Amino acid sequence: MRVGRIAKEHLAGIAALEKLSFAAPWSEDALSFLLREEAVGFACLDDAGIPVAYAGMLTVLDEGQITNVATNPAYRRQGLADAVLTALLTEARLRGLATVSLEVRESNLAAISLYEKHGFSVVGKRNHFYKNPREHALVMLCSL
Ligand SMILES: CC(C)(COP(=O)(O)OP(=O)(O)OC[C@H]1O[C@@H](n2cnc3c(N)ncnc32)[C@H](O)[C@@H]1OP(=O)(O)O)[C@@H](O)C(=O)NCCC(=O)NCCS
Repeated sequence: MRVGRIAKEHLAGIAALEKLSFAAPWSEDALSFLLREEAVGFACLDDAGIPVAYAGMLTVLDEGQITNVATNPAYRRQGLADAVLTALLTEARLRGLATVSLEVRESNLAAISLYEKHGFSVVGKRNHFYKNPREHALVMLCSL
């Protein structure tokens, strides 16, 4: 297993990961934003080069916005989300970002715990932000 920056050849595998993890998964096409200069993503790749976990981020000026983090269900609780999020926050610091924020379903205790472990705290709430099922989002922020 190794952590690498997301490139074009990983997008199909990441779209497959999205399908395994979310009710409204991003398509391979939609994920191509990760290749833009003002975005970055890291994936854990298995020995065949298939992504089994990933984290993506968009940047605007000195602010980062994490778009998604997901681990293949067969590989959860093995530290892979920790690894991709660490890589993403290291890159955020290298890019001179001041803050990184994200939204998370308020019932998603696993993700909230992951983000708290990496220095994020809850700074707000967006009512009925999610559909399917309808749920509020917590806004979390990490100051770098
Ligand atoms: C949330 C998610 C990305 C965690 O991935 P993972 O690779 O299993 O996480 P890790 O093994 O790296 O765990 C890192 C930390 O996350 C938290 N965590 C992960 N799974 C957890 C669980 N089931 N319950 C509680 N905390 C959990 C813990 O803080 C953990 O640290 P610890 O091992 O020191 O306790 C994964 O469960 C997932 O893909 N969920 C579906 C997609 C999703 O909800 N993404 C977040 C969108 S905002």
